[in-house]
Amino acid sequence: MTNIPELPAGTAGFVDHIGIAVTDLDEALVLYRDLMGLELERLEDVPSEQVKVAMLKLDRTGAVGHVELLAPMSDDCNIAKFIAKKGPGLHHIAFAAADIEIVMQRCRDAGLRLLDEAPRTGAGGKQIVFLHPKSSGGVLMEICHDPDH
Ligand code: CO
Repeated sequence: MTNIPELPAGTAGFVDHIGIAVTDLDEALVLYRDLMGLELERLEDVPSEQVKVAMLKLDRTGAVGHVELLAPMSDDCNIAKFIAKKGPGLHHIAFAAADIEIVMQRCRDAGLRLLDEAPRTGAGGKQIVFLHPKSSGGVLMEICHDPDH
């Protein structure tokens, strides 16, 4: 019998999505959907973040997570700035939280820097916060909570 260890309080124990910055969503869909075979779940505009998002399933069930393609809608949004600085590519990893406040507080207590004081609404109506990549080993980390689940 496998012994599944208990999760740290507030976490959900899985990666919700991997965020990838792209310059052109249609071009990126050719690569991820048409060449690599990931199924497109939905397209979404997130005006608050000034991004167009394509969510693709990491597996056929969509149960294990998603690839989130992020294309800028304006020149001064975060994704546009990221692409200008580093070029398109891997942008962030989003970890699912059952209780985002608990995870945020534990990160603060551990000395990690949060980029958001409070959760804000991201793609899919999820509550999201980001950790500063300088305090998370060079990886931009998102903590996200789906209020519908
Ligand atoms: Co994300």
